[in-house]
Amino acid sequence: MLNELANLHKLCFPHNPWSADDFADLKKSGCEIIASQHGFIVYRQILDEAEIITIGVHPDARRTGIAAAMLGIMQGDLKKSGVKHIFLEVAADNLPARRLYEQDGFVQIGMRPKYYDGQDAIMMRKDI
Ligand SMILES: CC(C)(COP(=O)(O)OP(=O)(O)OC[C@H]1O[C@@H](n2cnc3c(N)ncnc32)[C@H](O)[C@@H]1OP(=O)(O)O)[C@@H](O)C(=O)NCCC(=O)NCCS
Repeated sequence: MLNELANLHKLCFPHNPWSADDFADLKKSGCEIIASQHGFIVYRQILDEAEIITIGVHPDARRTGIAAAMLGIMQGDLKKSGVKHIFLEVAADNLPARRLYEQDGFVQIGMRPKYYDGQDAIMMRKDI
């Protein structure tokens, strides 16, 4: 399963692929992973806060609502676990991801200049 996840991650992030071992390490460190054949989301809960580590959908399956659905499932689980606030960082030039998060109700709360290889990171938050 982690090998399939690594293959899917490579299709989503060709310039920064994560290995099956990377995913195993994330799980060991307490991250949750929701994954299917077409997409994955990795997140971490700390007390009443959570952080989205990454999200990806197979290039052939995009714009069919998969990412939005995974965000919904994640938030359902987090609410049950007492989470009140969700945070994330997204590259300023990643417009599909920024639109996804905005449509889901995340708002910008800050910016880290030149965070990703010279590209600004937008910090976002949603209260649930
Ligand atoms: C960002 C990503 C996860 C979106 O996945 P997706 O399954 O295609 O997204 P959805 O179909 O659930 O889209 C939900 C909403 O997000 C927005 N959105 C998604 N892709 C978009 C695009 N290419 N352009 C503009 N808005 C987009 C839209 O508002 C969309 O709603 P709509 O289709 O009703 O207009 C996907 O493009 C991806 O895997 N990108 C590469 C990996 C990546 O950059 N991950 C984010 C790292 S922070």
